[in-house]
Amino acid sequence: MAYSSIDLSCGDGIATLTFNRPKALNALNTTLLEEFTDALNSIKKDESIRVLILTGAGEKAFVAGADITEIATLSPLGAKKFAQNGQDVISSLQELAIPVIAAVNGYALGGGCEMALACDFIYASEKAVFGLPEITLGVIPGFGGTQRLPRLIGANRAKEMIFTGKHLTAAEAKEIGLANKVFAPEELLPAVQEVAKLIATKGKASLCAAKQTISQGLNADLATGLCIERDAFALCLASPDAKEGTGAFLEKRKPVFTGGLNS
Ligand code: CAA
Repeated sequence: MAYSSIDLSCGDGIATLTFNRPKALNALNTTLLEEFTDALNSIKKDESIRVLILTGAGEKAFVAGADITEIATLSPLGAKKFAQNGQDVISSLQELAIPVIAAVNGYALGGGCEMALACDFIYASEKAVFGLPEITLGVIPGFGGTQRLPRLIGANRAKEMIFTGKHLTAAEAKEIGLANKVFAPEELLPAVQEVAKLIATKGKASLCAAKQTISQGLNADLATGLCIERDAFALCLASPDAKEGTGAFLEKRKPVFTGGLNS
């Protein structure tokens, strides 16, 4: 599929997906969501990719939300379908087996903030602006914001953001645990690439097991989570990557992980 609203580049185990409608501040319209889904599917099929970076094209935005020109004309049934589609797309991002890092370079509002919330962690530019401003449009977040934001930062802080629709600076987002780190604009992508490179040196099976164990454990009680962890640990230990990792330690050399998910 040829893309008009996103860019996808892959190399050295890292995929970078860039939202690319800078004139509309990378707003999520149907075409972009279709292309995004296609890109996620091709990333899933590529055994060599171990990390995904999401970012936005242009100086101003990561993603400024769902495309308001599309929302404005929707019937209630159409709106339900639109939200279902956006939720499905963002859930498939969250369910991606490999780690996903959001490099939030500017506005991450509405659906853009919801996209970042489905990533494993967020690094932000000092110019980043976070918010769920849907209340100002007379609606509420529809791509998972009412559910993922309170789970990440707590119900009280999420309610304040959603009820007021206020924008948060990058520093405020970091303070409440929404962004992990903040960088000068020109340092954001290099910093994200550096951490992605470090992650890409690890074994794919153990990266995916760690992600899955954390995600499943968060939806379970502690005893169940620990049980999930034991099983995943045992599976990892039986993998070629564990042989390489433990062997490399004992031989006092750096490990080189070549195993995929199916090895
Ligand atoms: N949808 C469609 N177009 C958008 C957009 C959006 N979400 N956000 C910005 N644009 C467009 C603007 O209409 C403008 O287009 P034109 O040049 O053709 O007029 C262009 O992008 C540049 O935007 P501005 O001129 O507004 O730029 P600014 O610097 O003055 O303001 C901004 C930037 C504060 C981000 C402002 O554009 C804004 O408030 N955008 C809307 C943010 C928003 O409400 N997002 C939530 C959308 S609803 C949603 O996401 C629901 C959901 O959960 C599913």
